Amino acid sequence: MRPTERLEAMRRQAALGGGEQRIAQQHAKGKLTARERIDLLLDEASFTEIDAFVMARPTELIADDERVMGDGVVTGFGRIDGRVVYVFAQDFTVFGGSLAEAHAEKICKVMDLAVRTGAPIIGLNDSGGARIQEGVVSLGGYADIFLRNVLASGVVPQISAILGPCAGGAVYSPAITDFVAMVRDTAHMFVTGPNVVRTVTHEDVTFDELGGADVHARKSGVAHFAADDDVSCLALVRRLVSYLPSNNLDGAPARSTDDPVDRQDRELDTIVPAAAARPYDMREVIRRVVDDGEMLGVHEEWAQNVICAFARLDGRSVGVVAQQPTVLAGVLDIDASTKAARFVRFCDAFNIPLVTFVDVPGFLPGVAQEHAGIIRSGAKLLYAYAEATVPKLTVITRKAYGGAYDVMSSKHIRGDYNVAWPSAEIAVMGPEGAVNIIHRDELAKAKDPDRRRAELVGEYVERFANPYVAASRGYIDDVIEPRQTRPRLVAALHALATKRDTNPRRKHGNIPL
Ligand code: HXC
Repeated sequence: MRPTERLEAMRRQAALGGGEQRIAQQHAKGKLTARERIDLLLDEASFTEIDAFVMARPTELIADDERVMGDGVVTGFGRIDGRVVYVFAQDFTVFGGSLAEAHAEKICKVMDLAVRTGAPIIGLNDSGGARIQEGVVSLGGYADIFLRNVLASGVVPQISAILGPCAGGAVYSPAITDFVAMVRDTAHMFVTGPNVVRTVTHEDVTFDELGGADVHARKSGVAHFAADDDVSCLALVRRLVSYLPSNNLDGAPARSTDDPVDRQDRELDTIVPAAAARPYDMREVIRRVVDDGEMLGVHEEWAQNVICAFARLDGRSVGVVAQQPTVLAGVLDIDASTKAARFVRFCDAFNIPLVTFVDVPGFLPGVAQEHAGIIRSGAKLLYAYAEATVPKLTVITRKAYGGAYDVMSSKHIRGDYNVAWPSAEIAVMGPEGAVNIIHRDELAKAKDPDRRRAELVGEYVERFANPYVAASRGYIDDVIEPRQTRPRLVAALHALATKRDTNPRRKHGNIPL
């Protein structure tokens, strides 16, 4: 056999992974193979494989003919929209995609290359966990990856797609990465599976109930995205990458848009209902402001009282954080604070300007929230906004009450361009609550307390629940017609493009966890 023929034969064999029968089994489960997934993820024919010939170390428990080229993971680099990304895709057809020494070394190699070259790293996970036959060496391999996840955090974007099992300690690599996307039905994440749960807590749960995509996208917040199948999951990852810079030294990517920067949307002038308690859809507000009405929601199904989304203004990526008045009146609770804090920190780490839309009645009252640590969690969001040095643009559409006013990218914590709509109410608390406290004695003595309360509320609204007190102090830079929101934000974003701001030199801050 000529050398090139031998190479060709070896490549063909490597491409088969665990063999045709196991590939058929993989397809029968509704899953794609590692290579099919990579092809869908990357620009056409852009993949360059690395380490295709690496094999598992011989061990007593693995026969020589069981060792397979590639060792159950396909690694390399390619492009998304023309930009380089590094990829690893676990191959379930080889020892159930289980991770062992050589498999881990391959992943570490592409992670190191990604960090050295400043390119995102994308992991396609589909694995039975630590390879049992290789024992503690597999655990060492995981720890090598965890360390790299931590050191790469804030340096290059890290994205995990979960396309099969991901259990035990293996979950902690995706958990450290910036974004986790899961596929419904076929992907599961849990620290201990249903059998162990049954033994320990006597709870009877299915794989899906314990750690399926919907559970993690809606309840636990472990997953930022849930997709119906491999194809839509990988398309989603491509879309996500389009908003992100390649590393922490690059600016956010820009793309051209036909949406005029001076577009004024008159519908915005009437979108906030006159009655303070009536909700409106903040998504609609965002859509009417950003380029082409397009945004990518992050954690869309979890803590829906706050919206976190990537969008573009004049072609530049921005991170949008906004209250959603249609869910819990947009109140900040533990999950919403945690969700927004992590998003703000991601955007700050990767030079993505923050645009915040505020309509916040405050933090959620209640024993459950207090006992579960709303103080600790609310502090996360305050900390994240305060430490962020990217351009910070804030639009107060209606309520900005109490501590939540301070937290939501206020001027006082280095907001760069803070404006309010005429409907804004910036105050220590809502009119009803305020009147009940400061006029308690008078109301107790009043002949007609309800009428007197209504009068006092009216006076309070006139005096305090408007944007002009804050504007008179310079706490907001301007009061704008809602229709002007897009042109104003675009202009501010351009002006802030050269923003330089730093935090004190220190090893690292100590964000409340
Ligand atoms: C070696 C494994 C394996 C593993 C699966 N396989 N997991 N081989 N080590 N961890 C093999 C199976 O033996 C089987 O080989 C093939 O992969 C396909 O597995 P199936 O069981 O047929 O597939 P499926 O029915 O889809 O079930 C998938 C599964 C199940 C749910 C992942 O295989 C499973 O429960 N595996 C064990 C999971 C586990 O306990 N892992 C260790 C966790 S501890 P054959 O040749 O029979 O077809 C851990 C710690 C990480 O991961 C710590 C990090 C710090």
